[in-house]
Amino acid sequence: MAQQIRRIGVLTSGGDAPGMNAAVRAVVRQAKEHDVEVVAVYEGYKGLIEGNTKLFGMRDVSNIINKGGTILYSARSKEFKTEEGMIKAVETCLRNGIEGMVCIGGDGTFRGATDLTRRGIPCIGIPATIDNDIASTEYTIGYDTAMNTAIQMVDNLRDTCESHFRCNVVEIMGRHSGYIAVNVGLATGAAQIVVGELPFDEERMYEEILIGKSRKKRHYIIMVAEGVKGYAEELTQKIEERTGIETRFTRLGHVVRGGSPTLRDRVAASRMGIAAVDYLLEGKSNMVVCMHGENISSMDIEYALMLDKMYKNKLKDGDLKKYNEEEVARMRAYCDKKAAAFKKLYNQALDISQ
Ligand code: F6P
Repeated sequence: MAQQIRRIGVLTSGGDAPGMNAAVRAVVRQAKEHDVEVVAVYEGYKGLIEGNTKLFGMRDVSNIINKGGTILYSARSKEFKTEEGMIKAVETCLRNGIEGMVCIGGDGTFRGATDLTRRGIPCIGIPATIDNDIASTEYTIGYDTAMNTAIQMVDNLRDTCESHFRCNVVEIMGRHSGYIAVNVGLATGAAQIVVGELPFDEERMYEEILIGKSRKKRHYIIMVAEGVKGYAEELTQKIEERTGIETRFTRLGHVVRGGSPTLRDRVAASRMGIAAVDYLLEGKSNMVVCMHGENISSMDIEYALMLDKMYKNKLKDGDLKKYNEEEVARMRAYCDKKAAAFKKLYNQALDISQ
């Protein structure tokens, strides 16, 4: 391993996610394995600007692998996007002898990591968000825990629906992504799932609920992804009017973001934390750690962000100009495959929903 770095920094940024602590722990321990010191930065990029840091030892990461949230705290910083903020952040790195950074969070965190790399601080990003909405990786830390928390809650709702012969429309977090909604919908036997990425046939839903009613089905869970803004509440009223079934609305918000991480999140976070340190020590920078199946790899952050834009149909004119035809075709094929897998899962969930 070509090791030159003696001290690295670690921060968590954006929405917290269960497993972030396991990632921080792995970063500190793996760094220690290679006699590299770790400076913890509190409150993400805001803390980097304000110089809110602490030199971490092994004791600082003891007894945290099982803890939800992030012991480094998090914040969404607007100042970091300004030139002045950037300069202060780089100054903090230099003052603390930070020669490389591990930035744990979502796509906003990666944009920050790229900015920092451009200003001379090599960064590696670790994907952590309950939303699993980062196109470059199949898995993001926190996703599994959030879904497992959610299924317990939806199971509880089913109990009370069944008792009262009711329908419950459940809005669930995920920002613009329907991954949580589809998986939780499938895992809880939802009668319908509504996500922003795919069309939804409202009339067919009423027909199916009425068929269920004629067969004396007593509980109906309708899962709606948060990304379909405002729709869940509107639907609650309409279902009652159209089917005569008493209908309630439940929003599963931040409650699914907390809690002790599942085994899957602890393992993924630990492996990603180790990989991030290894990449820095190998001299890599401006990379994001990705996970496909059980395989951990790295991808250039800017490429990863571009994939993300492509997947989410957010590309602007000229965005792809630095990539050749072959690269663009490869990116499109990747996004198409991912979208097709999502659609397949959605259809499978609906196929067995009635
Ligand atoms: O990205 C995680 C997430 O919980 C999303 O699911 C949700 O849309 C958003 O963050 C909420 O953000 P905030 O915590 O700033 O309200």
